[in-house]
Amino acid sequence: MSLFRSKMFKTKMTIFCFFLTALILMVPTSSTATDNPTYSASTDTFIYANCSQARFSPGSAYETNLKFLLSSLVNSTVLNRYNNLTVPFGSGVKPEPDVTVYGLFQCSVDLDPISCSSCVSRAIALVGNTCPNSYSVFLQMQNCLVRYDKSSFFGVQDKTVMLKTCGQPMGFYDQDALTRVNDVIGSLGSGSEPDRTRVNGDVRGMAQCTEDLSPAQCQDCLTDAIGRLRSDCLMAQGGYVYLSKCYARFSFGGSHARQTPNSNFGGEKYDKDDDDNNIGKTLVIIIGIITLVILLVVLLAFLGKKLRKLQDDKCCR
Ligand SMILES: *[C@@H]1O[C@H](CO)[C@@H](O)[C@H](O)[C@H]1NC(C)=O
Ligand SMILES: *[C@@H]1O[C@H](CO)[C@@H](O)[C@H](O)[C@H]1NC(C)=O
Ligand SMILES: *[C@@H]1O[C@H](CO)[C@@H](O)[C@H](O)[C@H]1NC(C)=O
Repeated sequence: MSLFRSKMFKTKMTIFCFFLTALILMVPTSSTATDNPTYSASTDTFIYANCSQARFSPGSAYETNLKFLLSSLVNSTVLNRYNNLTVPFGSGVKPEPDVTVYGLFQCSVDLDPISCSSCVSRAIALVGNTCPNSYSVFLQMQNCLVRYDKSSFFGVQDKTVMLKTCGQPMGFYDQDALTRVNDVIGSLGSGSEPDRTRVNGDVRGMAQCTEDLSPAQCQDCLTDAIGRLRSDCLMAQGGYVYLSKCYARFSFGGSHARQTPNSNFGGEKYDKDDDDNNIGKTLVIIIGIITLVILLVVLLAFLGKKLRKLQDDKCCR
């Protein structure tokens, strides 16, 4: 009877120990998960800004409206990846020169609302230093765009080249790599979405229009940007073409970048690989700990049984 009870007790203890260790092990797992979002937030690097020479005077109605507009844009990142606003706005409100402000923001398609909000906030924080009191500002980050002006630019096609950069030339002639780049650039051109991501092996391409353009205007803009990317950056290890209303870019990750360090463009893929690596390492450590704990529990149970058997032998022989 007492033997049976002690066995029950031990089984219960073993189960309890197991759940306790499982609980302890949950803690590092969940902290790894909350660390992850910093990956996307950390890649919202500044690309370029264009500020008008014309400036409004501090304390003007334009400044008041601009502040309200920027605050509203940041607040609306929880709802959407894109928004255009006019301030003041409403039925019966007539646009007034040098008073009415038009603005928009847009985030990359793969950005979650929190990262989008942080990207747009960073962009707006940069505006203050980069373009103090400018009537018109165009600020492009890696993952988002903020733009405002005193006249409306919504729905207006504009293929002005804002920025074009090609990465280092390929270190050697590599037909395979060239084929992959060609394929990615080509496939960016087809599709109906205003937001495109294409991957072939280690080559990753992205293209995006601001969403105030109609689908036809967007395709027209992208065709231009992609054509320039192909003609100017095909033999490079990456490149981007930013037009006023759309952009196209591509980059290498993996083997090519390893052969020629520091020449990788954008570095998006690298950050992600590092993260994956970290998750992998954490997993290996967790599995190691679990295995150790299980071994320990089994060993203790075994020792306990041995001890009790010894005691039983002593008492009852
Ligand atoms: C930069 O902004 C100014 C004023 O808004 C504009 O005239 C100019 O064309 C812009 N530059 C480019 C490259 O679009
Ligand atoms: C945006 O949100 C903040 C914080 O909730 C609030 O204080 C601010 O008034 C909002 N801005 C606008 C324009 O609604
Ligand atoms: C947003 O842009 C569209 C054109 O793309 C325009 O018709 C609409 O009035 C704009 N909304 C605001 C609030 O300015």
